[in-house]
Amino acid sequence: MPAISRQTIEEVRSRMDILDVVSDFVSLKRAGNQYKALSPFTNEKTPSFYVVPSKGIFKDFSSGKGGDAITFVMEHEGMSYPEAIRYLAKKYGIEIKEEAGTLTDETTQERESLFIVMNFAKNYFHDLLFRHEEGIAVGLSYFRERGFTDTTIEKFELGYSLDAWNHFEEHALKNGFSREILEKAGLIVPREGKSGYDRFRGRVIFPVHNLSGKVIAFGARILKQDADKQQPKYINSPETEIYKKSQVLYGLFQARNEIRKQDFCYLVEGYTDVLSLHQAGIENVVASSGTALTEEQIRLIRRFTNNITVLFDGDEAGVRAALRGIDMILRGDLNVRVVLLPDGEDPDSFARKNSTTVLRQFLSENSQDFITFKVNLYREEAQRDPIKKAQAIREIVTSIAVMPDPVKRSVYIKETCRHLDVSENVLLTELNKILIQERRKKQERLAEPEVEPVPSVAVSDTFIERTQALAIQQLQERETIRLLVNYAEAQYEDEYGKHQVKENILQEIEGVTFSNPLYREIIELYRKAAETDEAIDSYYLLNNGSEEVKKLVAELLTVRYSISTHWRDKYHIYIPHESEELSGVTLKNILSLKFWLLQEMIESNITAWKKTETEKPHDLVAIDTYMTVHDQLKLAQREIADALGIVVQR
Ligand code: CTP
Ligand code: MN
Repeated sequence: MPAISRQTIEEVRSRMDILDVVSDFVSLKRAGNQYKALSPFTNEKTPSFYVVPSKGIFKDFSSGKGGDAITFVMEHEGMSYPEAIRYLAKKYGIEIKEEAGTLTDETTQERESLFIVMNFAKNYFHDLLFRHEEGIAVGLSYFRERGFTDTTIEKFELGYSLDAWNHFEEHALKNGFSREILEKAGLIVPREGKSGYDRFRGRVIFPVHNLSGKVIAFGARILKQDADKQQPKYINSPETEIYKKSQVLYGLFQARNEIRKQDFCYLVEGYTDVLSLHQAGIENVVASSGTALTEEQIRLIRRFTNNITVLFDGDEAGVRAALRGIDMILRGDLNVRVVLLPDGEDPDSFARKNSTTVLRQFLSENSQDFITFKVNLYREEAQRDPIKKAQAIREIVTSIAVMPDPVKRSVYIKETCRHLDVSENVLLTELNKILIQERRKKQERLAEPEVEPVPSVAVSDTFIERTQALAIQQLQERETIRLLVNYAEAQYEDEYGKHQVKENILQEIEGVTFSNPLYREIIELYRKAAETDEAIDSYYLLNNGSEEVKKLVAELLTVRYSISTHWRDKYHIYIPHESEELSGVTLKNILSLKFWLLQEMIESNITAWKKTETEKPHDLVAIDTYMTVHDQLKLAQREIADALGIVVQR
């Protein structure tokens, strides 16, 4: 496979201009040295999308995305790395030179190969449907029996996999694909010592496309439900480098334009539901493919519309699924409506039984706002039973509480008032109770370290102190990394001579283990570079770091990042101002990092100490050790505190 030459990539990198690239998609407003806009990735109301031309980066605080112009194109257009390079090359009139060799990195190359083999498989399955005797007799006639037209079959590129052990494998091998890539793509299942077998054999095939129409996975349906064999109805592709199940919606590629046009999107459960609705002329429809809706899927939809209509069976399972989906959608700040189909019908069967006119009429007449839907669900019971009514109120208010937008929340509270005949105050009290609970839970989660969770402590006030200490320590760690990323190569002078910030920081944090693995990764990059005396600046990280590192670096390079002054005053987190002298800045920062590390150690020592005192009160040796450790830690902390001018209690 030809790859874009390194030279071309270098040229693109040197020519691309973040401001210019982003401006093609987003209208930016100047704010000092930076540019601001509403996030193109979420539907926020206050702008938190930043472009910093001097650094060549963007940062989107509402979605967490960030990076250089290439990353932007990849994220915004859903392109792969080479696709983004090609796009930028075209934009800047750079001639694309190909080379036979390797692409920039292994994953990019693997992704490309996976796309190619999936496309090959899609064509193979699809051709069988029309050209192979068994394909026609079994596959095509199955689709025809279900009423799918050739237009639908073509549009969704449906196919058939022969009922043979490894017909596909052999065909693919003959065409130069390696067994390894077939296996990686999940198309064959390996068997020890023998050739593999085709994963989807004897099934009709539903290709799953990504946003640019490339096939990334297959769903394969059994033809007849064979009870004694107990085969699953669908076999789906396993997750691969190009297929992350939770980030994909079936049908979105075919639906995207219509969703934009109609400004809403139907959400159904299955492949066949999508097909039948399309065939009935309703094209703004996607399927969650039988799994619970995920946050990422909702974000995907939000790129095209803010309105979702959930379409589910009228039976109990359908209602339950609808309820689960609703809160998820509301949490994503989208508007949700619900259509319940008659008991026992799914969108596919309903669309087939009724004419397009009847279907359309049914959908529009039976689409209800989620409040109405929930109220109707409980109304009858609630009218008779005050306890049931209280439950109903709680149910509805719980959904309202997950909405991120307070304005929407109050609109819906009013709506609920009207429907349930309760006072607004009752609802608001209930809402606030839930909101406070939620906030508390969220704070606890935030305070937890991201990677190595500490065991929670039974004593509640110790717990709060402890989680606070951890949160502060993390902020301080972050501050240290921020200094490193921003000023690594900067020099400063003190009475001992000239120093480099990088050197100073790396020396000072020797032996300190950061809790965040990304920070450790960055420090490792710096340490390696320091060994070879190589200069390493933020550009180096942006070009060589993992995607996660790039994101973080972009975030740290933007000025918006700051800690609230409340925290600074209360906990003495040292937040240097960029213009301050760096020598003092770095030292103070590192000292406070160590201070909070010690604090963390002190807290956990106390916890263990208390535990031993209650559980093994006779183990005096152990208790004595805890006390000694405590004193030593406190002493070390006091030394640092003196240097920083902090007063330590206890
Ligand atoms: N599904 C799956 N694996 C299964 C069963 C279901 O992945 N063993 C997913 C498929 O994406 C399917 C969706 O869940 O489309 C809904 O399941 P179901 O309603 O059982 O299937 P339908 O698509 O309605 O298929 P059919 O109409 O042919 O029965
Ligand atoms: Mn069905």
